[in-house]
Order: sequence, then structure tokens, then C-alpha cells
Amino acid sequence: MNINYKNLGLVCTKEMFKKAIKEKFAIPAYNFSNMEQLQAIIQGCIETDSPVILQISSSAYKYVNPILLRHMITGITQMTNKKIPIALHLDHGNSFELCKSCIDNGFSSVMIDGSAYSYKENIYLTKKVVKYAHLKNVVVEAELGVLAGIEDTTKAEKNLYTQPEKVEDFISKTGVDSLAISIGTSHGAYKFKIKPNKKIPSLRFNILKEIKKQLPNFPIVLHGASSILPKYVNIINQNGGNIESATGVSESQLRKAIQNGICKINIDSDLRLVMTAIIRKTLTENPKEFDPRKYLGLAREELIKIIKYKNKKVLSSAGFGHTIF
Ligand code: G3H
Ligand code: 13P
Ligand code: ZN
Repeated sequence: MNINYKNLGLVCTKEMFKKAIKEKFAIPAYNFSNMEQLQAIIQGCIETDSPVILQISSSAYKYVNPILLRHMITGITQMTNKKIPIALHLDHGNSFELCKSCIDNGFSSVMIDGSAYSYKENIYLTKKVVKYAHLKNVVVEAELGVLAGIEDTTKAEKNLYTQPEKVEDFISKTGVDSLAISIGTSHGAYKFKIKPNKKIPSLRFNILKEIKKQLPNFPIVLHGASSILPKYVNIINQNGGNIESATGVSESQLRKAIQNGICKINIDSDLRLVMTAIIRKTLTENPKEFDPRKYLGLAREELIKIIKYKNKKVLSSAGFGHTIF
């Protein structure tokens, strides 16, 4: 089957990025892999009038099932009835075939992550995806530089950060629509290994500024942008979990990144932590409970709160939903 995203009621991210760059806010790109997360993301974004990018990783695509996912998205766009613009994005696509499958299944954008390959191979793969995607008016995100944790040591540091002198060449050779860069964030709940009494290192704003100098109006994306909120890490640890020394990107660093031109922010771990924290707490406090609606329902309520908070206080996307269509 070959479905176009417009038939699912989705929008292209182009207009979202244009607005975000002009008004200096970031489009929230929230990952999800189940119904409660999806409902919470949409509810939180409707209540704050925020545009939203729904993100599915390659493993989440398999976990949910492509056909069921398409119907869930159709249900969501019918229910929301154009209150806010919604895009559906493949996060970290690792092959042409996967990107093609998502494009044909109604995604409005895909990421082809060729960052593990050589520069030349990354260009080759990205270009191939762009060629197919653009035939269907689907847009493509690519990545230059590799996201890694501080544990990868200073030796690897130089090669892992995005090299600003390469971005223009990469974009002109691939025709890609947005670019994920590496300026010190990493995926997951353990972003920085901090020595006692030492502060979390700053993101490399000098690299971001240099990139923006080369590409002033081009959409630049920040991955690994969860803040790993201590409140939820503590709830998990107090209720039988074991998530030690977790650290994230501070909200002030995220705001600074947005002020310096980041227009899409990827968040996954924070939503996972919130959900896990509430489920653990609810089950610990109510050992007799075995109705999933009770603990998943409470988790969904908390997710809505956190999404509203992020849209309003961190990404500043609140209030812009109705202005983009
Ligand atoms: O960037 C990666 C996301 O956090 C997805 O992770 O493959 O476990 O769904 P996942
Ligand atoms: P976090 O692990 O910081 O939430 O990053 C998510 C991400 O970048 C998804 O692409
Ligand atoms: Zn990512």
C-alpha cells in the first residue's frame, strides 16, 4: 500500500520550522511507543496550542506495528480535527528500505541517520533517501557528527562533534531538509559522567553558532535533549528502581540552544522516566491493584503535565499551534 501523509491528516514540518526559526522557539519532537504516551503528547500539545512532531524510532515502528500505527495516527488527527499541526517522523532511520516503508505508510518526514558511516557514505545514503522522499513531498532529516557520552573521552571528542566546515557541503550534496548536529548531548539517561563537585559541562555553543553562521535559516535539530528530571529519577529509586547517577541537559542550556537557532528538540527519555516513575509509585502504594487503566491512566495524567510544562517553559512552542497550517 502507498499512502500519502496528507491523507492521514498530517502536515509537513517545513512550515513548522519556518515559524520556529522566525519566532525563536523549538518544535517539540516527542518519541512514543504506546497509546497512553501518544494520547498524552497530543493532549498536552492541544492544551498548550503547540505544534508537535510525533516520533517513532525504528524499534518502536516494529513494536507498535506499521498498520496499527497508521490507524492510531488517523484516529488522532480525526479526534483533534486540525486544532494543532501534527507531523509523524521516523527517528534514526537506519536504512533506505526502512525510510521507504515509513514514507509509503504515511509518515510526513523521515530521518536517515548515516552518522555511523563515513562522510562519503553518509552523503550517498542520505541523497538516496532524499530523492525518494521528495517525490512524495516528504522531508528528510540527516545527521552529521555522532552523539556520544562524555565517557567517549576527549580523544574521540574532536571527531564526534559536528564539524561546521562540512555542513554546507553536506546539505548541498544531499538536498536534505534539516540537520541533526552533535554539540555535546547524548541519548538516554546518563548523558554526562560528572566527577564529584564538578559541574555538568556546557554544550558546545561555539559549534552551533558557527553552523548557524553557515546556514542561518536552515532547520537545525538537537537530539538527546531530555533533562532527566531528578524528581522522577528519585521516585523510581524510592520505589524499587535503580537509576543511579542519571544526568540530563539542563533547561537553561536547552533555552540557550533555542536562542542560538535550534528549531527542533528531541525528547524521549524524560517521557519514559515519568511513565515508569508513576507506574512504580502507584503499584508500590497499591499492591492489590491489577487494572492497567489505573496505573497507566495516572502515568498519562503526569505525562500531560510534563509536556505542557516543556512546551510552555522550555521549548516556548506554546501558543504557536494555530498559527501554522
Ligand atoms: O534516539 C533514540 C530514541 O530514544 C529511541 O530509542 O530505539 O529504544 O526506541 P529506542
Ligand atoms: P533523549 O534520550 O535525551 O530523550 O533523546 C531522544 C532523542 O534524541 C530521540 O531521537
Ligand atoms: Zn536521537
